[in-house]
Amino acid sequence: MEPSAENRELINCLRKVHSEIGWDLGELVEFLKAVGIMNPGGKMYGEREKKLYEVIHFSSHIVKCVENISRRREVVLLDCGCGRSYLPFFVNYVLGKKRRQIDYIGIDSNPELVKRSTEISKKLGFFNMRFYESNIISFEPEQPVNIVCALHACDTATDEAIAKGIRLSSRFILAAPCCQRQVVKQISRVSRNVPQIKPLVEAKVTKEYIGVALTETLRKLALESFGYKVDLFEFVSSKYTPKNIMLRAEKIREWNRKSLAAYQALRDYFAVKPKIQEYLKQLQ
Ligand SMILES: C[S@@+](CC[C@H](N)C(=O)[O-])C[C@H]1O[C@@H](n2cnc3c(N)ncnc32)[C@H](O)[C@@H]1O
Repeated sequence: MEPSAENRELINCLRKVHSEIGWDLGELVEFLKAVGIMNPGGKMYGEREKKLYEVIHFSSHIVKCVENISRRREVVLLDCGCGRSYLPFFVNYVLGKKRRQIDYIGIDSNPELVKRSTEISKKLGFFNMRFYESNIISFEPEQPVNIVCALHACDTATDEAIAKGIRLSSRFILAAPCCQRQVVKQISRVSRNVPQIKPLVEAKVTKEYIGVALTETLRKLALESFGYKVDLFEFVSSKYTPKNIMLRAEKIREWNRKSLAAYQALRDYFAVKPKIQEYLKQLQ
């Protein structure tokens, strides 16, 4: 059977992103049907096609983190705001092909989605996955966690995920934020201190651009303050999602005073109170 144009594009993407795996289209289609990305006829459900490309690109960063951890160590991945869990299911699928097993914990505040993810994981035979109904910041895992991730956890849920990762001393933290509403709402305050900036934050569109840049830079500096080395970049093409920024962090030292000073100076210049510092008092 000839693959459809849709499936050809998918296989080409997979061969680029996860090039070490020999992809079998028939098996992949069955997997995508089971997780709910494709319908029983093997066609992608509307918007879920874009989500799949986000997931594929995000997964490559998780797989790299796993591969950076010795096979002798237990790997525990905490997914914050897992939703329908397309990302962890796909990561598990890829790692299975690489004969690597990790423990996976997914948390979400929505009980329906937790139930759905649990049921699908059982159907797939993914017995290394557990899902809990919880908000992110109050969740206390029983085992040490070495990777924390959050894909489009809503607004300040990304701050919860980053703070949770820091509090758990997770070696890796990967977050693709959803929106930056909390800081955007406060950004006009900057003109109290710096009137020259007022024209930049007057139009909604420029206010939002600055809000995005400011939120993510403050999150990066917050992570750096706690000794993480951080990359901030676009992890997937904007044709799949406009929310394509990723913070990829690895713990390399205890503390970084210079980054803390930079965080506090930038925050005070813009007169904002980012949510993250409510969870990490050291930033205040
Ligand atoms: C936009 S969805 C993204 C889901 C999934 N990560 C994905 O990319 O498909 C955000 C999810 O985060 C959950 N969520 C939002 N705030 C949360 C919080 N504070 N604690 C736990 N879950 C939260 C929502 O219930 C929702 O399922």
